[in-house]
Amino acid sequence: MRVAVLNGPNLNLLGTREPELYGTNRLEDIERAVRARANELGVEIAWSQTNHEGELIELIQALDGSADGALVNAAALTHTSLAVRDALLAVGTPFVEVHLSNIFAREEARRRSLFADLAVGIVAGFGADSYLLGLDALVSHVKARAD
Ligand code: DQA
Repeated sequence: MRVAVLNGPNLNLLGTREPELYGTNRLEDIERAVRARANELGVEIAWSQTNHEGELIELIQALDGSADGALVNAAALTHTSLAVRDALLAVGTPFVEVHLSNIFAREEARRRSLFADLAVGIVAGFGADSYLLGLDALVSHVKARAD
């Protein structure tokens, strides 16, 4: 099974960026933990991060035929980007939306996700563990669908 992990704007700054909200793990630390868990599950990971909306859209378009599922943390684009929503709709690859912080407990503008209704589910608020929980859930979902 192949799982793509897509990270949006500013997530490259994790570790030093608002640590009280996002914790002190760097994105590379999260990547390492996700790859270790994926290894245990026998899953292949394609990891990416971009600060550009268009590049995120291209990464989503490329999911078709290259990934069985995706973990998506589109960061601030979650709350603003109809274009990212359209890309997710177009490819139809099952994905779990993940967030380090609990977006529903934050400022009004962050309480809305433009993709939540398209996702298999959402994991938010567990810091780096959101990615691990999301991976477990996504893999179970994809396996169940294949049976
Ligand atoms: C985030 C939440 C977003 O509101 C924010 O813009 C981010 C990170 C999270 O993982 O908690 O950049 O997606």
